[in-house]
Amino acid sequence: MSSIRFSDFERIVFFTGAGMSAESGIPTYRGRGGIWAEYKYEDYACQRAFDRDPEKVWDFHDKRRAVVRACEPNPGHDIVAEVQKKKPGTIIVTQNIDGMHQRAGATDVAELHGSLWRVRCDAEEIVREDTSVPMNPRKCSCGRYWRPDIVWFEDQLDHRVVRRAREALEQCDLLVSIGTSAVVYPAADLPRIAVQHGAETVEINLEDTPLSPLYKHRLRGKASEVLAELNR
Ligand code: OAD
Repeated sequence: MSSIRFSDFERIVFFTGAGMSAESGIPTYRGRGGIWAEYKYEDYACQRAFDRDPEKVWDFHDKRRAVVRACEPNPGHDIVAEVQKKKPGTIIVTQNIDGMHQRAGATDVAELHGSLWRVRCDAEEIVREDTSVPMNPRKCSCGRYWRPDIVWFEDQLDHRVVRRAREALEQCDLLVSIGTSAVVYPAADLPRIAVQHGAETVEINLEDTPLSPLYKHRLRGKASEVLAELNR
């Protein structure tokens, strides 16, 4: 049993990764059954792949849209949204692109890696929401392909989203990392900011990660179950 209770804190940052959505049935990226074990990111998740074969990259993203659409937020997402409602200083900083936090009712979500549910045309400088499955039409009125508004491998993070995440991490009194392997940079480095500013720190994961030593409380188990314990 952990000594940490959400009710003792006011400004909580939930820093989430694919393990947060695993109990919804959405595959994680690494490990057994992970997306990158089945698909080479060089062929499906980088600008070069998109420039080479946009149809193939869209086929992959359409499959992912269909999987995510068929899944529901899990009790862990519900707890995170509920805590945010009770504690308005709470922010979710997520690496996930699935939109599950928002579907569970969360409002303040900094999406470090973009969203599966937004597309953009870099030529026209347009970004828009698009929830069609499959995504249709694939081309903008200018004739170029819409591009998923996702931070792919080799892309830069959106500096406005990073700034928001950094500010939240500087100001939080509790950081809760949930279900991330902590190997993808620069996202993996962000939790360090909260540690440097003296926040209480909790890592929830099934197993240790390279950044586990950063956290004072390392809670092992399924996200939804550990979150329920902290929300008691
Ligand atoms: P990973 O797939 O790398 O890691 C998932 C983590 O979740 C692992 O550490 C698991 O042990 C843990 N986990 C799995 N199920 C869990 C559960 N039920 N409860 C708690 N923990 C669980 O996913 P990320 O760390 O999110 O980038 O990956 C980071 C980035 O790499 C992603 O944002 C993605 C990917 O390339 C983009 O999509 C741009």
